Amino acid sequence: MTTTQHRTKIGIAISTRERVADALHPVLATLVDLALAAKHAHWNVKGSNFQALHTLFDEVAAIAQASADTVAERIVQLGGTAMGRRQDLGASRLSTYPDEAVVGPEHVDALATALAEAGKAARNLIGDMAELGDDVTADILTEVARDLDKQLWFVEAHAQG
Ligand SMILES: [Fe+2]
Repeated sequence: MTTTQHRTKIGIAISTRERVADALHPVLATLVDLALAAKHAHWNVKGSNFQALHTLFDEVAAIAQASADTVAERIVQLGGTAMGRRQDLGASRLSTYPDEAVVGPEHVDALATALAEAGKAARNLIGDMAELGDDVTADILTEVARDLDKQLWFVEAHAQG
C-alpha cells in the first residue's frame, strides 16, 4: 500500500522511505489489533485469577497502543500517512482471537499467541530495515519486539510452573 509521500528534509531517499513505510503498515495494523485483543481479554476474563489477569491484560493493551503510536509516527516522519483505521486492519498478522476464551488460562493462551505473532512481525523486519539503511526504524522495531517479548513473558508466566 503506497500512500502519498509528503515532503520532508529527512536524509533518506524517497524510494527507501516508501519501502520502509510499506513494510511498517502491517506492523502498525498488527499492533492496533493486539491492543484490541488485549482489551477484549481485559474485559472478558473470568475465574480465580481474575484481578491479576484483568490488570495484566490492560498493561498489554497499553504497551501495544504505545508501540502502535511509535510505529505510526515513524511512518509520518518518513513522509507517509499512518493507516490505522478499521479498514486498514486487514493487514494485521494476528490470527483470529478465539470466541471460546472465557477463563484465565484460555485468555492467557490466546493473548500469548497474539503477542508472539506481533513480536515476530516486528522482529522479522529489523534486518530488512537495517539493510535498507534505515537504522532508526530498525531500532524502533527492536524496541517494539523487546517490549512485546517482555509482555509475552509476563503473560506466559501465568501458564507455567
Ligand atoms: Fe478497564
